[in-house]
Amino acid sequence: IQSDYQKMSQWAANHVIKRINEFNPTPDHKFVLGLPTGSSPVGMYNALVEANRAGKVSFKNVITFNMDEYVGLPEAHPESYHAFMARNLFDHIDCPKENIHILNGNAPDLQAECKHYEEMIKQAGGIDLFIGGIGPDGHIAFNEPGSSLRSRTRMKTLTTDTRIANSRFFGGKPENVPAHALTVGVGTVMDAREVMILVNGHGKARAMQAAVEGAVNHMWTISALQMHEHGIIVSDEEAADEL
Ligand code: GLP
Repeated sequence: IQSDYQKMSQWAANHVIKRINEFNPTPDHKFVLGLPTGSSPVGMYNALVEANRAGKVSFKNVITFNMDEYVGLPEAHPESYHAFMARNLFDHIDCPKENIHILNGNAPDLQAECKHYEEMIKQAGGIDLFIGGIGPDGHIAFNEPGSSLRSRTRMKTLTTDTRIANSRFFGGKPENVPAHALTVGVGTVMDAREVMILVNGHGKARAMQAAVEGAVNHMWTISALQMHEHGIIVSDEEAADEL
């Protein structure tokens, strides 16, 4: 628990830098990083861009897999997760384009796209560090309440709550938020060798309480983190208010 968002973001960035540098990735032995979107990780991404510029970390031998993407939203739309990642991270670091993986929400066969994504993660040797955020309802990636805790990459229908929460990026109109998304499953995230979840702001305090103090259950999918051997939550004071 850090005192504010800035410190939380710096802590998270330092942790990523430490893990990559300890691993010492090479072209034959790449570090595999799982990445989230949303407002929570933006501060961490800024700190990583800064560190990359300062030569404190390199992403040349890092492979990335993003958690999710809206279905049917053009990649060029400013709120697509492709556009978000380019704007906040990939356009500013030395990660080669061919190392970057983001689900294609416009693929002609969405089921095949999800299956292929899981295969690519496997081929890459699994994910070393999966970073995530959570929704106010405790969803991780787009694993809405009720998702199986063993779920794999697939299409999900977004709940009205999530469309309302994300409408701030779509002119305040929930009906403008795509109704479906492709998302890695809870099982996909939990298979990573380490999972780090970023939680900030009072709006997440109830989810944080359910995640840490509640029972493991599929209505708060982040609670699955309790079963992970190397799971960390990095939060600010506000999000920890209800603990
Ligand atoms: C979306 C994303 C999640 C993210 C959540 C919270 O639902 N699919 O991965 O954790 O938003 O976003 P924010 O960090 O903006 O609160």
